[in-house]
Amino acid sequence: MPTVPMNNLVKLTRHDDVAVITIDNPPVNALSPGVPEAVAAAMDEMNADPAVTAAVVIGAGRTFVAGADIKEFGKMTSGASPRRTLLPFLLGVEDSRKPVVMAIHGTAFGGGLELAMAGHYRVASPSAQVGQPEVRLGIIPGAGGTQRLPRLVGVPKAVEMCAQGKPISAPDARALGLIDRLIDGDLLSGAVAFAREIAGQPAPKTRERREKLGTLVENAEILAAARDSAGKKQRGMKAPLAAIDAVEAALTMPFEEGCQAEQKLFTECLFSDQSKALIHIFFGEREVAKIPDVPKETLLIPVNRVAVVGSGTMGGGIAMVFANAGIPVLLKDLDKAALDLGMEKIRKNYASSVQRGRFTQGFVDERLKLITPAFHYHAFSDVDMVVEAVFEGMALKKSVFADLDRACKPGAILASNTSTLNIDEIAGATSRPAAVIGTHFFSPANVMRLLEIVRGKESSKEVIATCMQLSKRLGKIGVLVGNCRGFVGNRMFGPYRREAQFLVEEGADVEAVDQALVEFGSAMGPLATGDLAGLDVGWRIRKEYRHLEKPGVRQPFAEDRLCELGRYGQKTLRGWYRYDENRRANLDPEVTVLVRNWSAEAEIAQRQISAEEIVERCIYALVNEGARILGEGFALRAVDIDIIYLNGYGFPAHRGGPMWHADTVGLPKVYQRICEFHHQHGELWAPAPLLQRLAESGKTFAEFDQERSAAGLLERVNSA
Ligand code: 3HC
Ligand code: NAI
Repeated sequence: MPTVPMNNLVKLTRHDDVAVITIDNPPVNALSPGVPEAVAAAMDEMNADPAVTAAVVIGAGRTFVAGADIKEFGKMTSGASPRRTLLPFLLGVEDSRKPVVMAIHGTAFGGGLELAMAGHYRVASPSAQVGQPEVRLGIIPGAGGTQRLPRLVGVPKAVEMCAQGKPISAPDARALGLIDRLIDGDLLSGAVAFAREIAGQPAPKTRERREKLGTLVENAEILAAARDSAGKKQRGMKAPLAAIDAVEAALTMPFEEGCQAEQKLFTECLFSDQSKALIHIFFGEREVAKIPDVPKETLLIPVNRVAVVGSGTMGGGIAMVFANAGIPVLLKDLDKAALDLGMEKIRKNYASSVQRGRFTQGFVDERLKLITPAFHYHAFSDVDMVVEAVFEGMALKKSVFADLDRACKPGAILASNTSTLNIDEIAGATSRPAAVIGTHFFSPANVMRLLEIVRGKESSKEVIATCMQLSKRLGKIGVLVGNCRGFVGNRMFGPYRREAQFLVEEGADVEAVDQALVEFGSAMGPLATGDLAGLDVGWRIRKEYRHLEKPGVRQPFAEDRLCELGRYGQKTLRGWYRYDENRRANLDPEVTVLVRNWSAEAEIAQRQISAEEIVERCIYALVNEGARILGEGFALRAVDIDIIYLNGYGFPAHRGGPMWHADTVGLPKVYQRICEFHHQHGELWAPAPLLQRLAESGKTFAEFDQERSAAGLLERVNSA
């Protein structure tokens, strides 16, 4: 079997009469520069070889081609590299005189699926996945995907795949006709055998097929429904609508023109701020896993059995998270009554997941078997990790950790779900502070993707590495943060919600404040979020920390007063809004009157406030606190803050997170507005020194991250 390397990325091997072209561009065989050229050269060579009757294209390592090289997009939009398109390359593959079989394992995503569809046949391992996920990067398929996919699977499925970006499994793709055969066992030999079967037969070209396309009239309703759904579910995002337009072009234009229309839309999307933001997030989500002083090789602690203390809102959800990942979990509470209540909530939660079709009853039954109620700490002697989720209070947490210290085996990780308390102080209640760490889940724990992992002064590298790795296993995105009050997410959320209250106290309508932020793209407005979480949570915390407030510095009062009236939010059906029994929000004129009266008493001048000011006040409050946190070393990178806000606080992904958004607006402009707010509203708006430094030196947060990373200056996150 002679092997000819075309370059260091692609090789051509002969398996008797079948040529095998292997793409070997780790880690994911992206179509980086050099790959298409070498595949084309291999194609020419096999076409010229009279002994070859057909070809197989396959990926080396863990996957077929996972797409175009996303790193190249950044270079294109900055003008550093000429714009290249994969279209002519794929036409060349499709025009091969000898049939080409694409052999798919792992993922054929984006340009990878486009390559596969330019082949004449596709075979796949049953575990493979295929998809056009480009919209998640703010772009659309740019190499004929929107034109070839509807020809293979029909318009309804193609619209769904291109506009929503969700991949489908190989068996589903087989049922749709996108895959011609599933191959159990060795993919390469199955693909070669398949190639021999079809050799000599006419090679079907996807671009010439029309039998599944239908007409514009036949598909009009599908297209309209897809646009409607994109407007609602992907609010504010341009790429899904562009993807639908491009698929529509397949119905109204010949293939070549359809590809040109796709190219135009692709380029518009690629050069948009939305795409830059989403690509920043793609790489950011991978970057946060990299902790400079905790190398990849750090020894991991096996986590096979865990325990959760406290079966309330968070503890119950956290137990479900472990069970969903197949990890057996002991669940402890104060007494049988509390535990029964906790288990009942878990059952209800699972039942509603079955009702909504998220899980099957069988899956849920298996998960429930993994959760075992525990009444004594001695049951904890062989668990590998404990997550404590009892009431928030230092004395209680310390006593629980002292108990855990006595009950758990050496080497077990002792984690706290505290949202405000000092991890080092909690660790001080044990004889093993190196085993103690914060694992701050977000509510509802079984739904929210964010996990803030709070590094204490003494948390060991093994414990940190294990929690970071565990977050992936639990389907979460773990971000390591420093130990300061509120950690990163909630520390920033304070000023954000403070400004929302100030705005109402200054004359803005409750609905106007929320609406401005929803228009900005947030999942929910700040006041409605307060109602959902419970206004009393913040009220209790503020009462506890009131002694730390500087005298003479303006503090918001509206929520405290609402709480004094028993208006805790959704749980009491009254808060900023009034709720019906289905928890649907209605405006409550009573609140407007109350706040206007309180403001008059406090002599706060009332004025018209624009939506622009509302957004600036709330979002720049996030940015300023984020810059302070970064400057103080409680977050490793600006992008870590962005990932926290996207995954834990409903910040719009297409704006890239608060720090990226500030870069996009321009730090000098953001800094100038913050200085104006400082002047108008006082000390709470003092600009963060890091923001001032970057704005004055013409730098961005992204450059700050890059420079520190390149210079090896990324240090460990701080512990206060
Ligand atoms: N380009 C460049 N780098 C890529 C990449 C791509 N398409 N896909 C993944 N990578 C990199 C990641 O950044 C990561 O790098 P790192 O190790 O330095 O952090 C490495 O490959 C491994 O990736 P993951 O950590 O994500 O590995 P997983 O095994 O968890 O997931 C995957 C693999 C499912 C392929 C996932 O990486 C993924 O979804 N990738 C993106 C796929 C995609 O969006 N493709 C479309 C690209 S756009 C396109 O094709 C346009 C076309 O229409 C013209
Ligand atoms: P919760 O009040 O719903 O539940 C607390 C549970 O702990 C109760 O079931 C209680 O009986 C139990 N408990 C109290 N003392 C105990 C003890 N000594 N031993 C065993 N069990 C005991 O509280 P929630 O909301 O679940 O909060 C738990 C922790 O999670 C707190 O530290 C909180 O700050 C944190 N948190 C809460 C979030 C939320 O949105 N509710 C979000 C993120 C963190």
